[in-house]
Amino acid sequence: MLAYQMKGEGTPLVLLHAFPLSSKMWLGELEPLSSRFKVIVPDLPGFGKSPVQKAVSMADMALKTSQLLDSLKVKEPVVLAGLSMGGYVSFEFLRQFPKRVRALGLFATRASDDTPQAREKRMQSIEALEKFGMEPFTKKIVKSQLGKSTHDSKPEVVKQALAIMNETNPEGAVAALRAMAVRRDSTDLLSSINFPVLIAAGEEDEIAPAAEMRAMHEKIRGSEFHVLPKAAHLINLEQPAEFRRIFEAFLKKL
Ligand code: MLT
Repeated sequence: MLAYQMKGEGTPLVLLHAFPLSSKMWLGELEPLSSRFKVIVPDLPGFGKSPVQKAVSMADMALKTSQLLDSLKVKEPVVLAGLSMGGYVSFEFLRQFPKRVRALGLFATRASDDTPQAREKRMQSIEALEKFGMEPFTKKIVKSQLGKSTHDSKPEVVKQALAIMNETNPEGAVAALRAMAVRRDSTDLLSSINFPVLIAAGEEDEIAPAAEMRAMHEKIRGSEFHVLPKAAHLINLEQPAEFRRIFEAFLKKL
């Protein structure tokens, strides 16, 4: 079973983390949201305290998340929210368990699959991780996961993100990179979504650019779209107050 953190009572709210982080990236949301929700924050396979599964897929990650809900006796539909890789897993969850979702948060993510160039880049990352381990890799990717504004004025956020990333087992990171490289295109799901959806992008994000997220928003009927200034990819760490304001306003309307 997946390791997880949980707090609060009420409607279940599941937060899925980005790559190569863990449930720890959601710690700032756990406490405030727990006043109204049962907040459940898993460590996806190979991250945080969850064991590495060498041959893993986005679909397996979604299945494991559903099994975690079963083990916690969560029967009612959940509010599901994922950032980046957490979003890819959310789409797979939706595909496998459509009745388990009552609302969705899609943060700094995309519905499309990898381009050949993106796959090639993942293969290079795998080689680097296998040769040199986690730290040289995270030192490089933190440059794009956090925006210029964060690098210039919030060194503590850079430190926090790096600390979470560096705890990841390189074998878990390699398995997730392989899984993301072959993930399905979920664009076909977008037009069938008929519940509330919140979409948020970072203005400085080059990994999941705001323009692409806006295009996704236009395909999901009734969805809400926000662009956070002075943030790139890890929007909840870079602009916690603004992120929380948008998320809480959305949750209040459910
Ligand atoms: C993430 O933040 O989860 C990654 O940037 C996702 C990816 O590599 O596609």
